[in-house]
Amino acid sequence: MQHLIDIDSTSVNDLEAILSLAGHIAVAPERFQDSGRDRVLVNLFYEPSTRTRVSFELAAMRLGLRVINVAASDSSVRKGETLEDTFLSLQAMGPDCIAVRHPTNGALAELTGVAEPGLHIINAGDGSRAHPTQALLDMFTLRRHYPDLSGRTVLVAGDLHHSRVTSSDVAILKKLGAGEIRLCAPSELMAASAVTDGVRVFDDFDAALEGVDAVMMLRIQHERLGAMDAPDGEDYHQHWGLTNDRLALAAPGCIVMHPGPMNRGVEITSEVADGPRSVIREQVTNGVWVRMAVLAHLLKLPTNP
Ligand code: CP
Repeated sequence: MQHLIDIDSTSVNDLEAILSLAGHIAVAPERFQDSGRDRVLVNLFYEPSTRTRVSFELAAMRLGLRVINVAASDSSVRKGETLEDTFLSLQAMGPDCIAVRHPTNGALAELTGVAEPGLHIINAGDGSRAHPTQALLDMFTLRRHYPDLSGRTVLVAGDLHHSRVTSSDVAILKKLGAGEIRLCAPSELMAASAVTDGVRVFDDFDAALEGVDAVMMLRIQHERLGAMDAPDGEDYHQHWGLTNDRLALAAPGCIVMHPGPMNRGVEITSEVADGPRSVIREQVTNGVWVRMAVLAHLLKLPTNP
């Protein structure tokens, strides 16, 4: 495995190997400390990020890698340099991995064609298309609560059309065998590409929540709405916001997930986000273990005895 571009193009064996490694790292991170000494990760981000960028940086540091952060807003991208030229220049300096976040769907595909054999590209989120490390950390979190997902129902709800998490989460849930996958969104925010065989689609949030074991809430992606009018926050919350009353429709013990950033009072209330069913902070912590595992798997790093 040279690159991590999306879930669809990653084998089940590689996905399982990364998740298994993340499990080992989570219980004994010291065994992996400094295993990547003198290797280099470049974080090349064309969009804002808190969780993904910092957790890649922390993951790399915990493995002993050196990290260079390049924000497009603070680089020669502002002088008109293309993504490919920027990438080729960074590659010429000899890093081992480049994690890229970019607003354009499929932007990383052009880079894999010009990547040298020893360089690993990691998709840190492209447009509304894919966010594979988020899907991996979501699966890791789900399995910690439900070691056997085959009998469990997972609902993904909110602005599915504009979120890069939708397709990656559906892909990993299908590939690694969730019992039932449900999608729920207002019709104008439904993700047509994610509506595939074996996925149940709902346009009524209360009906979609009936008996689910996990619900993943997604925010309205205002930065990707384009010509579409932004939904009214109050009205949206009335119909599509997750409240404690609505959560009571789910299975007892249903966990609440959110990739962040949250819009409190819109897609989720604070009482739910900070409540006993919420595993949102746990997702963030697991993101470090999973990104350590992604780097260690790609770089074939040794485990300390
Ligand atoms: N979940 C996620 O990608 O968050 P950031 O945009 O803060 O990285």
